[in-house]
Amino acid sequence: PKASAGSGNPRDFVAKMKEGKKRIVIFYGSQTGTAEEYAIRLAKEAKTKFGLASLVCDPEEYDFENLDQVPEDCCVFFVMATYGEGEPTDNAVTLCQNLSDESFELSNGEHKLPAIKYVVFGLGNKTYEHYNLIAKNVDRDMQKMGGIRIGERGEGDDDKSMEEDYLEWKDGMWEAFAKAMNVEEGQGGDTPDFAVTEVDEHPPEKVYLGELSARALTRSKGIHDAKNPYPAPIAVARELFEEGTDRNCIHIEFNTEGSGITYQHGDHVGVWPSNAEFEVQRLLCALGLYDKKDKVINIESLDPALAKVPFPVPTTYITVLRHYIDISAVAGRQILGAISKFAPTPEAEGFLQMLNTNKEEYANVVANGCLKLGEVLQLAAGNDISTAPTIENTTPWAIPFDIVVSSIPRLQPRYYSISSSPKLHPNSIHATVVVLAYESIPNDKVKTKWVHGVGSNFLLNLKFAARGEPIPLAADKAHPALALTPKYAIEGPRGAYRQEAIYKAPVHVRRSTFRLPTNPKSPVIMVGPGTGVAPFRGFVQERVAMARRTIEKNGVEGLADWGNIRLYFGCRRSDQDFLYKDEWTEYAKELHGKFTMRCAFSRQPPYQPDGSKIYVQDLLWEDHEQIADAILNGKGYVYVCGDAKSMSKAVEETLCRILGEAKGGSAEVEGAAELKLLKERSRMLLDVWS
Ligand code: 2AM
Repeated sequence: PKASAGSGNPRDFVAKMKEGKKRIVIFYGSQTGTAEEYAIRLAKEAKTKFGLASLVCDPEEYDFENLDQVPEDCCVFFVMATYGEGEPTDNAVTLCQNLSDESFELSNGEHKLPAIKYVVFGLGNKTYEHYNLIAKNVDRDMQKMGGIRIGERGEGDDDKSMEEDYLEWKDGMWEAFAKAMNVEEGQGGDTPDFAVTEVDEHPPEKVYLGELSARALTRSKGIHDAKNPYPAPIAVARELFEEGTDRNCIHIEFNTEGSGITYQHGDHVGVWPSNAEFEVQRLLCALGLYDKKDKVINIESLDPALAKVPFPVPTTYITVLRHYIDISAVAGRQILGAISKFAPTPEAEGFLQMLNTNKEEYANVVANGCLKLGEVLQLAAGNDISTAPTIENTTPWAIPFDIVVSSIPRLQPRYYSISSSPKLHPNSIHATVVVLAYESIPNDKVKTKWVHGVGSNFLLNLKFAARGEPIPLAADKAHPALALTPKYAIEGPRGAYRQEAIYKAPVHVRRSTFRLPTNPKSPVIMVGPGTGVAPFRGFVQERVAMARRTIEKNGVEGLADWGNIRLYFGCRRSDQDFLYKDEWTEYAKELHGKFTMRCAFSRQPPYQPDGSKIYVQDLLWEDHEQIADAILNGKGYVYVCGDAKSMSKAVEETLCRILGEAKGGSAEVEGAAELKLLKERSRMLLDVWS
C-alpha cells in the first residue's frame, strides 16, 4: 500500500512535515554520526537564518514512495556519507536503491518527480577511490527524476578538510536556497536547542555516570549494538612491542561471554573511549564548572525533532565532559565564533573572533597546534596551556552549558579490525592497537606539544589498569598519554567500567565483508604491514581451526588440496615491532605447509641495492610469479589491510605490475584491468584507514 499524507503511517515523512509545518526535510546517510551532525547543523542554520523548521530523518525509518508529494514550497536535503569502497552507509542502502531503481514506483505510479527542490552535501574521503560517490549518485538520480538542485553539490573530504569544505560550500548554498524558497535572512533568532537544569534531589542510582545507553540503568534487555554497547571485561591486555621500543602497541582481549555478542573473522570492534582526565579537568576549569562538577543535571530538548539530547540523562557536568562529548577534538572554527561573546575579557573575545574569521591564523594556531576547545579558551584568556590545569591558573568563561552540549559532537566509538577468529576464541574479541602519539606543529602562539589519540590511549590506560601497573605521569614525553588518563577515566562510571577490580570497556561489533573464501582450496594473498596484520591473525586462526577439524577427520592428507595462504607483513625491525612474532610459527606448524609468511623489515639490513627500504610491495614483486599464478590460474583472493594513503596504493600498483606482466601487457592497461576485475568479483578486498 502506498503511504499517503495524514494516514498516521509513521514511515510517511511528508505527513510528518505537514503536521509539524516543516518546509525542510533532511535525510542523512551516516555510519559514525558525522553526517548526522552536519544534518543537524543544517537544520539549525535554517532555523537561525530563516526561522524555518526542519525534519531531520534517518532514511531507514521512512518510505520514499511519496517523495513526489513533497509540497512545492518545501526542500529535501541529502547529507550523504560514502563509506568504504564507494558504498552507502547502512542506513541509506534502501534510499539509494530506491532513487536509482527506475522500476521503483512513486505514488504517482511513475519514477518521475514534479520539480522538487533538493540540496546535496556529501561526506567522503579523498584517499579512497570513489570519492563522494554516494552524494554524486543521489544528485544524478534526483536530476534524472526531474528534481531541481539548489546551489552546488557540496563535497567534504574527511581526510583533510571536512569542516572547511562545509563552511566554504554552505554560504553559497544558503544564498541560492533563500532565492529558491523565497525567504529572507534574519527571520530566525538565536534559539537554544536544550534547556539544562540543575537538580537538587535525585536518587543516585538513577543518575547516568557514563553508561552509553538509557537501557543500562533501566536494566531492560536488548541486543548489543552501536546503540547499546556492551561493557566488556578486559580478559587480557599486554604490550606487543619489545621492551625499550619508544612506541606502544596493545593486544587487548574483550571478554564477551554471556553477552550474546557474536562476530566473524574480519569484522570490526567499536570501542567507546573516555576522554583523558587531564582534558576533562581543563575544560571544567575553563567553563567555571569545577566546583560543581558532580552536580546532577537534567537536559531537555526544546525541539526534539531538531535536536535529540545526545546521551542519557540525568547526569553530571563531569560525566558529560568525561564520557559523552568529544572534547578532545580540534576546536572547530565555527564554535569559536559562537562562544566569543561569552569571553571573560575583550582581548579573549577579540582573539576568538580573529580565529573565527581569519582562516590562515585558524589553520596555523588551532589546526596545526591541534588545540582542543579547553586549550583555545585558556590561550585566549592568556593562561598557560602547558601546565596542569587548575581553578587557580585557568580563567573561567560563562558559556551556557546548553551551548557546550549543542556545539560539541558526541564522543564516537573507534573501530578496530578484530584480530581473532571466533572459531578459536568464541568468547573473546581481540584487537591490536598501535598507540597514537605525535608532536604538533609549533607556531608563534603555541609551542610544540604531544597529541594523543583518544581511543588508543584509552586502551593503553586500560592495559595498565587491568594489569595493576601504575600509569606513568610525565606529560612531556612521547608516551605521556600515559599521563593523561589517570584514575577516573578508567574507574569511570559506577559499574560500567570497573567492578571489583575488573576493568571494562564498552564495545560493539560492526559487520564487514572482509572474509576468507569459504572454499579452502582457493589460494589467498594477505598484505598487512604494521597493525594491518590484525585481521589476518584472525584469518590464519580461522584456517587453523578448520585444519584441526579436517585433520581429525581425514588426517593431514585432508589438507592436500588446500590452497596456500600467504601473508606479507612489514615492520621496522624484527626485534622491535614484529607483531605476534612467536605465534606465526605455531600456526604454520598446524597448517602443514599451507601457510607462508614473508616479512619486510624496513629499518634493518638488508636494504635495497640503492640503500632504500624494503617494503611489503617489494616482497610481492619478488614473488610475482607465484602471485600471478595464484590470482590468474588459482582463482586466488587478495586482501590488503592497513594504511590507505601510501601503503595500499603502492601495493595496488605493484599488483598491477605483476598482473600486467603476467598478461604480457602493461601495468597501466592490462594490469589495471585485471585488478578492476578482481575487485568487481570481490576477490580483491581492502580494509584500509587513513
Ligand atoms: P617505515 O616506517 O620504516 O617507513 C609498518 O608501519 C611498516 O610499514 C613499517 O615497516 C613502515 O616502514 C612500513 N611502511 C611505511 N610506508 C610504507 C609504504 N608506503 N608501503 C609499504 N610499507 C610502508
